[in-house]
Amino acid sequence: MINTTYLYYFSPTGGTKKVGELFSNGISKNIKKINLGLRDAQIENPQGDLTVIAVPVFGGRIPDFTTSQLKQINGKGKKAVTLVVYGNRAYEDALLELNNVVKAQGFQILASAAFVAQHSMAPEVGKGRPDEQDKKEIIVFAKKVLSKIEANDETTVEVPGNYPYKEAKGMPVTPISLKTCHLCGKCEKACPTGAIIIKNQIVETDADKCMLCMACTAVCPEHARILPMPVQEKMEQMLGTLKTVRNENQFFI
Ligand SMILES: Cc1cc2nc3c(=O)[nH]c(=O)nc-3n(C[C@H](O)[C@H](O)[C@H](O)COP(=O)(O)O)c2cc1C
Repeated sequence: MINTTYLYYFSPTGGTKKVGELFSNGISKNIKKINLGLRDAQIENPQGDLTVIAVPVFGGRIPDFTTSQLKQINGKGKKAVTLVVYGNRAYEDALLELNNVVKAQGFQILASAAFVAQHSMAPEVGKGRPDEQDKKEIIVFAKKVLSKIEANDETTVEVPGNYPYKEAKGMPVTPISLKTCHLCGKCEKACPTGAIIIKNQIVETDADKCMLCMACTAVCPEHARILPMPVQEKMEQMLGTLKTVRNENQFFI
């Protein structure tokens, strides 16, 4: 086992955090967790023996917001494992992009993986994942990484992806608040970019700041924060065929 692992994660709806924790628990007892999604967080540099960086896939890329947060970290040549978590469609250029960002911050990447979690915009896709089978695979991968570290094997990994990266296409839409909203302010607090402001008993969303990460929908206790119905229906239509497909986790070590 490794003494201390630093786990940096961005996880608007919880799937990425779950995967990052399962992996880190398989590798060390002492885990320092750093949530990259906290607004104005002071992001400290890693001090442990291993750094794990886990981010979600948005449109086959990593969210720009994550890149800005990661650019605050100095890797100082430390060993890292990178994880992307995708919603059972595809991760395309996300892992390659993450690895390039992480390398540029001075980390040495020993292993990488892409894991499936429930799709945050279409929950019937990848429903219930990571499940028991995924958990087993995450633990097996963690043990392999541990063996690599114990063997002082410092070879780095090649991961799939293309240049130029897939074009980042933001969707011109934001979640909305229904009349059942109690104005509790949890969405306002949870928004990583400060796009939500409650003013005069109205929840206002700044479309320029919103990255559609779905953190606000996940945190709403009344389920009153949702995608506009036509958008939700379109997403389900686009991704519907994936409901019965089990895409696999992929490992690079
Ligand atoms: C804006 C947006 C874009 C997404 N794009 C993809 C994608 O390209 N491929 C995919 O498989 N899943 C995609 N997803 C699903 C997420 O990658 C997946 O649900 C992930 O688990 C979300 O992480 P979280 O649970 O930590 O929030 C997207 C989700 C959002 C909100």
